[in-house]
Amino acid sequence: MTDLTTFAHGLPKAELHLHLEGTLEPELKFALAARNGVELAQKTVEEVRATYDFTDLTSFLAVYYPAMDVLRTAEDFHDLAWAYLQRAAAEGVVHTEMFFDPQAHTSRGVPFDDVVTGYHRAVVRAGRELGVSAELVLCFLRDMSAEHAMSTLMEALPYKRWIIGVGLDSDERGNPPSKFDAVFARARAEGFLLTAHCDIDQEGSIANIGHVVREIGVDRVDHGTNVVEDDALVELVAERGLGLTCCPVSNSFVTEQMKADEIVGLLSRGVRVTVNSDDPAYFGAYVGGNYVALAEQADLGAEDLVQLAVNSFEAAWLTPARRAAYIAQVHEYAAAAR
Ligand code: HPA
Ligand code: ZN
Repeated sequence: MTDLTTFAHGLPKAELHLHLEGTLEPELKFALAARNGVELAQKTVEEVRATYDFTDLTSFLAVYYPAMDVLRTAEDFHDLAWAYLQRAAAEGVVHTEMFFDPQAHTSRGVPFDDVVTGYHRAVVRAGRELGVSAELVLCFLRDMSAEHAMSTLMEALPYKRWIIGVGLDSDERGNPPSKFDAVFARARAEGFLLTAHCDIDQEGSIANIGHVVREIGVDRVDHGTNVVEDDALVELVAERGLGLTCCPVSNSFVTEQMKADEIVGLLSRGVRVTVNSDDPAYFGAYVGGNYVALAEQADLGAEDLVQLAVNSFEAAWLTPARRAAYIAQVHEYAAAAR
């Protein structure tokens, strides 16, 4: 597996399911707490990690949101994104479309402008200093009201050129995507691309996937592996070439398993499956680690990983010319490794 690990980490890839707030490592959390005079309940990295005891999405989110309290200034948001982008570059990421949760900050009194300006500075820096292309995807928190999502969308309009698309995250239970139909329609009209989380094994998972694909008309689905429950929907997703942004290590934290059989089964049925890290600081694996974990679990070889990397660019929101150039880079890398 060592050779395959090296191969997986060097493979040029796009990361399409990554929450910037989910990249907050305990060390940075302490540094930001000290800078901002925030008192933390935990005093050591080990104590922080001991709180990472998740059994499902809800118990993960209960740890995830309070941790964000250390993020206060534009500089903090820059530092968070910059730390992720450096780690991503070291694991072969050449393009990334990163989620952020503005409502988790504006609801604490942090100005929207500080959040987006800080993140955007890291995006610009990554292009210049790392040769990594990065985009921002604004996620609405689905456990807040549709009205709050709509007003957040309005707040985002002046920053349109810095934000490629919108998504939907947080607790799916009791918050189906239909709640946000009007918000997605307006986002589409404003020129944003659309994606939405359809988390693993939720009540109504398959209905929610059907809704985002058939009614909202998303350009991608985040997680979405429960699509296996409906053959007609699998065919539709494959036909439309919709990307599914799977996160195997995350799955193993919020359910009992990585869902490797589902992920690999969909891949072999021609669905544009991609592999991503979700919240790597919490789940202990960045994107290269997710390729390796899935390969170990499902006994994948280098050719399968190449397919996943190609899919990541096929599913990315790139121009045809840039997409083709990245895919050529994948094949050159694979040829050189043979
Ligand atoms: N699902 C829902 N909300 C989230 C996730 C996720 O995978 N990660 C961070 N917020
Ligand atoms: Zn996610």
